[in-house]
Amino acid sequence: MSQPTDQTVSLPEKPYLAALAGHTLERPPFWLMRQAGRYLPEYRDVRRRAGSFIDLCLTPTLACEVTLQPLRRYGMDAAILFSDILMVPYGLGQRLDYVEGEGPQLEPITDAHQLERLSIDHFHDRLTPVYETVRQVIQALPDRTALIGFAGSPWTVACYMVQGAGSKEWDKVKGFAYRDPAGFAALMTLLETVTVAYLAAQIDAGAEAVQLFDSWAGILPPKPFRRLVIEPTRRIVQALKQHYPQIPVIGFPRGAGMLLEAYTLETGVDAVALDTTVPPDWAARHLQCHRPVQGNLDPILLVAGGEAMATELDDILRTLSRGPFVFNLGHGVAQVTPPEHVEQLAALIRSWPERR
Ligand code: CP3
Repeated sequence: MSQPTDQTVSLPEKPYLAALAGHTLERPPFWLMRQAGRYLPEYRDVRRRAGSFIDLCLTPTLACEVTLQPLRRYGMDAAILFSDILMVPYGLGQRLDYVEGEGPQLEPITDAHQLERLSIDHFHDRLTPVYETVRQVIQALPDRTALIGFAGSPWTVACYMVQGAGSKEWDKVKGFAYRDPAGFAALMTLLETVTVAYLAAQIDAGAEAVQLFDSWAGILPPKPFRRLVIEPTRRIVQALKQHYPQIPVIGFPRGAGMLLEAYTLETGVDAVALDTTVPPDWAARHLQCHRPVQGNLDPILLVAGGEAMATELDDILRTLSRGPFVFNLGHGVAQVTPPEHVEQLAALIRSWPERR
């Protein structure tokens, strides 16, 4: 554990970065996955003005505005760049559309031949507005607030690229990976390469930490989990560390279950984000002794609010705030979340040092 004990080691001024550097803070820093989004009326206004979701992601002034909206209301310790994990396939030239009420739709890459439809040549050109958003946000942030860049992990991005949309079974992407391991490896290698380049460009533009979202890690059996989740993540972390040793990388392997410990230790991530299924006391004993952890209130408790939310929140804080910890949800904020409940949550976290 890198817990700095030497009194002369100075604490990073941003609490979120201090926690990721291994410091235990009296009041844990917090932010929420999907903290910007449709539960906020001011987001819905900007979203309407932007036209499409992709236009919103690719218009820096508007993307910057919606990045800052939740911070103005709730004063989170970190902002997360407003964008989407599917901007990577967009950068590779795959046709992408967000259909109201149905989520993302892509023209699917069904086999290795279709990889020809993808090209790395215009990747940065197409995504320049994302990097410009990072520049604008870092300029606008309060001194104590950190900026998180992000990408989807290759496996999760491949899920959408091959399946063409969200899915219950993910039969097409798993089928491709099982049927043609070499062809699927070509797609994964391409995604690894562009993910490193994409995160590096966000860091160059001002991102102070990066999170890798592996939302569909949990649908893989153990052997492909190692090959398609742990190994690519390890190589991405290693590549980033060569150029940006000081930038923390946070991994979020949702649904990793019994493989969460292996993921945490073997990928080299600086911190691990816990999904809602991970018992906080288990995480304290098995993970937090190695790395800072982030998580993991059920987003639906934030929809419920009141006592149910407060009780579970305190349980998480009591268990995990004795070590390096960033409070978050175990998955993204739900669209039906009442904004007042986020206010209640923020107030409870802020008053934790007096209530503990
Ligand atoms: O506030 C933030 O967290 C930053 C922005 C962000 C978005 N998506 C904005 C968004 C982040 C970090 C993401 C990550 C993302 N995107 C993931 C990983 C995390 C997770 O939720 O598991 C995934 C799987 C996606 C892919 C994606 N984007 C889906 C499946 C959908 C449709 C579902 C939905 O909620 O509508 C999106 C669209 C999307 N991405 C929206 C937002 C705010 C809603 C689009 C809208 O406003 O119409």
